[in-house]
Amino acid sequence: MSPGKPVFITFEGGEGAGKTTQILHVAAFLAERGRSCILTREPGGTDLGRKIRALLLDPAHVAMDARTELLLYMADRAEHLARVVRPALAAGRVVLCDRFFDATVVYQGAARGLSMEWAETLHELVFPGVRPDLTLLLDLAPEVGLARARRQMEKGGRAAREGRFENEELGFHRRVREGYLELARRRPERFRVIDAGRGEAEVKADLLRAVAGFLGIPPPGGETP
Ligand code: TMP
Repeated sequence: MSPGKPVFITFEGGEGAGKTTQILHVAAFLAERGRSCILTREPGGTDLGRKIRALLLDPAHVAMDARTELLLYMADRAEHLARVVRPALAAGRVVLCDRFFDATVVYQGAARGLSMEWAETLHELVFPGVRPDLTLLLDLAPEVGLARARRQMEKGGRAAREGRFENEELGFHRRVREGYLELARRRPERFRVIDAGRGEAEVKADLLRAVAGFLGIPPPGGETP
């Protein structure tokens, strides 16, 4: 893919998979290669979205109805697509997005039990044809990811007031992992599955190789013949 073409790349995975750290490595790598990119996330990639994020992740809302939850994620997405993602793609930039609609299909569709197909159908109805070009799935055993995520909360790295999903039982997080792996099996042309159970440097190396391969640019260390 030649430089200057818009590209939409999403990062997915369960809690504690390291997306937030790794997305920064990918952004730095693309900047080195001279590609203009933006880094954004769902929920919370806009001013309005940050308010929706606070509602969604507040542990006090433990009994939120699954459909309310799904529609709030979609409201956040509508705002984010209109204000951030579409303008950046129209300007020929690479958009690196920490979670997108696959998260709704998996968390609300699979783990909450609303049905993955139904969530996908709703997405298609509301945002017809909107798909990432590439989705990097950081796959990790939920036992390991949850322990990491809860440690980060204790250390203050992530606000305790955002802990609603970390408080879900292990079975919920197992359904999230299985849901993501099922999507990756169904859409091998879009998904790359990265083993996130390894050290940060190894995960980073795999991610950068996957991104470089997709964009047709030299991988790290591949500049010289
Ligand atoms: P984050 O921790 O990656 O910022 O994501 C916040 C939480 O929101 C995370 O537990 C996954 C969840 N989520 C959904 O349940 N559905 C969605 O559509 C999105 C984007 C996130």
